[in-house]
Amino acid sequence: MDNCTFVIFGATGDLTKRKLIPALYQLVAEKKLTNFAIVGVAIDDVTASDMLNKAREFIEPLDEAIWKQLENVTYFQRVDFLNEQDYVPLRKRVEEAEKKHKLSGNRMLYCAAAAQFFCPITTNLVASGLAKKTAPDAKPWYRVVYEKPFGHDRTSAHEINECIARHLHENQVYRIDHYLTKEVVSNIALIRFTNCVFEPLWNNRYIDQVQIILSEKVCVGDRGYYYDKYGALADVVQNHMLELLALVGMEAPELLKGDYVREQRAKVLQKIEVVDGLLGQYEGYLQEPGVAPQSKTETFAALMLRVNNPRWAGVPFYLKTGKCLDKKEIVIHIKFKQVDCLLAKNCPSDSNWLTIKVTPDATFTLNLNAKKPGYTNELVQMSMEYCHSCIFGQRSAEAYEIVFEEVIRGELAAAVRFDEIEYAWKVIETIRKDHFSLYPYKQGTVGPTEALQEFSRKHGMRWRS
Ligand code: BG6
Repeated sequence: MDNCTFVIFGATGDLTKRKLIPALYQLVAEKKLTNFAIVGVAIDDVTASDMLNKAREFIEPLDEAIWKQLENVTYFQRVDFLNEQDYVPLRKRVEEAEKKHKLSGNRMLYCAAAAQFFCPITTNLVASGLAKKTAPDAKPWYRVVYEKPFGHDRTSAHEINECIARHLHENQVYRIDHYLTKEVVSNIALIRFTNCVFEPLWNNRYIDQVQIILSEKVCVGDRGYYYDKYGALADVVQNHMLELLALVGMEAPELLKGDYVREQRAKVLQKIEVVDGLLGQYEGYLQEPGVAPQSKTETFAALMLRVNNPRWAGVPFYLKTGKCLDKKEIVIHIKFKQVDCLLAKNCPSDSNWLTIKVTPDATFTLNLNAKKPGYTNELVQMSMEYCHSCIFGQRSAEAYEIVFEEVIRGELAAAVRFDEIEYAWKVIETIRKDHFSLYPYKQGTVGPTEALQEFSRKHGMRWRS
């Protein structure tokens, strides 16, 4: 990988300590990163060690020798993101680090900050010379990474996009959705497009429905202040879940990389129609720190969507997500249509399902009808499973390690293009306008049970668990 300097805006925040520093540590431990520097940036008055030490508890096991390597290349600069003057000493600090560690000037400028700072940070980065608008393959490179949420609606996302476009080439811009870098997720397209047993069947003639489920055991915890302004729809549906849908639904890109993939994902997102939905809020949510006492923010959503194009016309896409549920699970179920009954007495009652599990185990499972053992022609459902960890070992790279690697390699498919973000926000706006009912649900359950049952009855479907 190219050498580079990581400049992290929001260096004292949650994401930096929980995900970014641990991911950088891991890349060092695996010797993927050897020549680099980190410059943490925040408004707080802290030292580089203060900043790093907050991340220690999230690294397990921690090797002191590797930690020392990280300490030796890490710096901190206090900056008010809105103050242009503060970027002058920041540039000096970055240049000193680059000189000291003999780096070639490649910079990854990582905005782990709130979306309202994206435009001012970008403007000041370019005004101060910390970043420059360059052609896609220019050297040294300047790549700016933006964390989610990217805006809070379509208009704000559009404004940020316009601001960024004034200062940077779109190929320098990485709007991150860490789901796109999860091992199994990046496998979806490969498995789909390289297997004759799937690709010809991947359409409304053979697929009955798709379910995308993102359940979380955790409640909002200490993130109430942020979460209450967004809710489940903006927190995980607008980005992670719609991107999963786009990957499942997209047409074959010319190449499985970069803009070829983004173009196909965008085409799916543009064609999504919201048909029905229900929202929920877990009991006790209003007592969480940072949550408004009368809040109507949803912590649960179940939706029925359609993708209005020739491949998917008539196929429902069901999405379900929630916090404070009975389990952590990210899974995509693809239900195939019932086969025509060719054998007079052995008509299978079950369809084939392809289940792509992202968490807790990374697996692909195909359910088939087969004969029960013995003197009988009775059918049973059996499953064929591809278990990633069983074959490749327990540890697959964490999403943020891959984020760093992909940005260093300049792989744009790991990031979301400007139009994908705006189409996805449009879907969320439609849902909000439809004012779906908000049902309470008990913590540790599957969500608002009765409302979910009613939803299933209405659409003649069953959530697969
Ligand atoms: C984040 C959301 O983007 O994704 C969180 O803000 C959510 O609320 C998280 O918990 C889920 O990600 P993962 O990788 O833990 O499934």
